[in-house]
Parts: sequence; C-alpha cells; structure tokens
Amino acid sequence: MRVALVGATGRIGSAVATALAARHEVVGGSRSAGVRVDIGDAGSIKAFLKEVGPVDAVVCCAGRPRWGPMADLTSDDYLDSLREKLLGQVSLTRQAISHLRDGGAVVLTAGLLSRYPMPGSTAPATVNAALEGFVRAAALEMPRGIRIVVVSPGRVGNPGTESHPRTPPSEVALAYVEAVEGAMTGSAISVGRM
Ligand SMILES: NC(=O)c1ccc[n+]([C@@H]2O[C@H](COP(=O)([O-])OP(=O)(O)OC[C@H]3O[C@@H](n4cnc5c(N)ncnc54)[C@H](OP(=O)(O)O)[C@@H]3O)[C@@H](O)[C@H]2O)c1
Repeated sequence: MRVALVGATGRIGSAVATALAARHEVVGGSRSAGVRVDIGDAGSIKAFLKEVGPVDAVVCCAGRPRWGPMADLTSDDYLDSLREKLLGQVSLTRQAISHLRDGGAVVLTAGLLSRYPMPGSTAPATVNAALEGFVRAAALEMPRGIRIVVVSPGRVGNPGTESHPRTPPSEVALAYVEAVEGAMTGSAISVGRM
C-alpha cells in the first residue's frame, strides 16, 4: 500500500513510519520535514495531498493541544487546540477522501485523556473526545468502502526514562499498522495506559 503520513518525524509518527515501512511505501511529511504540510492550514493540506498523489491510507500523528489548569487557560488556548488537532484532522479527513483509492483508510490520533483525564488536561481531553465522536460519525459517510479509525494512545515514551510509566512508541505504532491493514471502521483503538 501507499501511505501518506503526517507528523512522520514525531515521537509517535517516526515509530509509525518505521512500522509501516516494513510492508508499505510511506510518504512522510510535517511542517519542517518531508513533504511540507501544516494541518492547521486547509490550503497546506490541499497542496500536500496533491503532491503525494493517490494513496491507500492517510495517517495523521500530529497536533499539540494546550496543557494547563482550566482557570489559567484562555479561550484562545482552547481555540488553538481545537483548530489544530481537531479541525486540522477533520479537514485532513474531508480532503483526503478524493485522494484515497477505493477501500482506503484514514487513521487519526486522539488520546486516552478523552476517557482518563487528569488535572491540567481539559483542552486535550476535549479535543480527543471530539475526535473519537467525529470518527464514529464520519464512518457512516465515508464513500467507496473507505474506512476511518482513530488511535487513542496513553502516555508514550521509553520506559524508565520518565517519571510516569509510558508505552514505547514501537508498541503504539502497532495500533496504527492494525488500523491501516485491518477492516475496522468508526472505532477508537486504545493503546497503552495513563
Ligand atoms: N506523546 C504522547 O504521550 C501522546 C499521548 C497521547 C496522544 N498523543 C498525541 O499524538 C500526537 C503526536 O504526539 P507526539 O508525542 O508524537 O508529538 P511530537 O513528538 O511533538 O511530534 C509531532 C509531529 O507532528 C508534526 N506536526 C506538529 N504540528 C503539525 C502541524 N500543525 N501540521 C503538520 N505536522 C505537524 C511534527 O513535526 P513539525 O514540527 O515539523 O511539524 C512532528 O512530526 C499528538 O496529537 C498528541 O496529542 C501523544
């Protein structure tokens, strides 16, 4: 399969690129590497998809919602979080449809904070829950057998290197491979723990 991967240089995205590249052709991009794309800019997504050409899957591992106590966050902090990680992935999905081959797949990234929040996580928890809802509903409207799945990771990192237990990126990446190669649609795949 030919797979377009947004966020291919990130902690999760680079592991996903490695895992997918074992069996598929991966075309990676981000704001500063590979085929340039900013998911916060609909025009940039359009140019990215045009440059990449027809694909069997579009995978997104990008987006950075704001963290902080609810009392300290501003409306702009919430709007920025919604604009990039939520609306960016919604826009990527809607534009990707016409570039995906029949039976293709869109794979987005949310996060377990949607269901297991912690203090300071109101913006990511909101965005992640909205993404899971979007994917459940969008699956009902995807044409030509195109599937849509969202991966919701817990804390990702290399065990022993940080204060909280984390799931290694290579393990999280397997959920993306399953989403690309499998048959599920409208689902959120949970991986790791908080
Ligand atoms: N790490 C975790 O523990 C964890 C847990 C649950 C969910 N998540 C979610 O997983 C996703 C990736 O997390 P990560 O930890 O891998 O992040 P990361 O290491 O910061 O990597 C983010 C990747 O996305 C690209 N990117 C950032 N903003 C972009 C934009 N507007 N348009 C296009 N590309 C963009 C970055 O490259 P450029 O800077 O070059 O654009 C980079 O390749 C995020 O949505 C995050 O909320 C992460």
